[in-house]
Amino acid sequence: MGDYQLEIGSVLTKKKDRVVEGILICSNPECRCEYPIIDGIPIIVADIREFVRQSAFSIVKRNNSSEEIESLLGDCMGPGSMYDSIRQYLSSYGYDHYGDLDPDECGQPGVRPGSALHLLSETLPGMMQPIDGPILDLGCSVGRTSFELSRNFNGLVLGIDLNLTMLQAAVKVLETGIFTYPKRMLGLAYDRKMIKTDFMDDENVDFWACDVLNLPFPDALFSFGLSFNLLDCVGDPYLHLQEIERVLKSGAGAIISTPYDWSPNASPVERWLGGHSQRSEAKGKSEIVLRSLFAKGGNPHAIKNLELVFEKENLPWTVRVHHRSYMNYSVHVMGLRKSL
Ligand SMILES: C[S@@+](CC[C@H](N)C(=O)[O-])C[C@H]1O[C@@H](n2cnc3c(N)ncnc32)[C@H](O)[C@@H]1O
Repeated sequence: MGDYQLEIGSVLTKKKDRVVEGILICSNPECRCEYPIIDGIPIIVADIREFVRQSAFSIVKRNNSSEEIESLLGDCMGPGSMYDSIRQYLSSYGYDHYGDLDPDECGQPGVRPGSALHLLSETLPGMMQPIDGPILDLGCSVGRTSFELSRNFNGLVLGIDLNLTMLQAAVKVLETGIFTYPKRMLGLAYDRKMIKTDFMDDENVDFWACDVLNLPFPDALFSFGLSFNLLDCVGDPYLHLQEIERVLKSGAGAIISTPYDWSPNASPVERWLGGHSQRSEAKGKSEIVLRSLFAKGGNPHAIKNLELVFEKENLPWTVRVHHRSYMNYSVHVMGLRKSL
């Protein structure tokens, strides 16, 4: 996008001061590319046609079907369908991000929700520096960490993700204060949960659909970046680190947490940072490979402008699958700072 900015080409629907539907246009007269705002989410990705094709289901699906119809649709479409994976994602991240605010969860058996929030409270103090926005929450999913960052710091917090259904649920919290999600019980059986929050109308938070590997922002814009449990989900983890380095201001911090749960479904083995080549000096250990990227020294691949400020090992992060199944991860956290 070079030095050109996006302009609001048209506002089609508005709610209070928020544009719910509209079109952004590149100000470069030779480009004039259009980027839609749908359901209050600006979609600013390089290949807009591919994104819309991939997200067609979330775009055309409306959230007003009754719980019974939703359950019937789920049965018809079956396990492994797009409908089912969307519900599973919402169920897992919805439970972890907002379950602590659900009075019904009190005293329930099973693993407690709130592991992403716990990661935040365990690691933010390690940055030991004032953060005054703007803040970028990379791979924010349903957005709870963005709301919490806004509560703790001044300035704007932008949550970005490529999963439109999760962003829609986050924007709904912004617009109504209510987080609605299907909580999976077993198989294709889900309970609809509606959780009241006090995040409505937080003017400092917004959610955009953007690719963390191709951030539509100029260099040195953000005062802080959060990348929770994302590094092993992207197609090119090294590029993810480079993009974080690029968009941070000098002196700005970032926190990266990851379980290094590498999978060829997310990134080809050649792109994994560790997790292979056990004969090498790093012995296939991802934390050693990461440290070497941020160390001063001779690594030709070093991310030169990011230095390691602190590390924490073996922090718990839990993804609920259904009421009898949880995935418990032990994550590595790195606090980084961009050199002055
Ligand atoms: C494992 S989840 C972690 C969510 C959240 N940060 C947490 O810790 O609870 C990873 C998130 O990153 C998003 N994601 C994956 N690849 C992405 C990309 N290239 N750009 C933006 N978001 C991406 C996924 O849609 C998902 O919401």
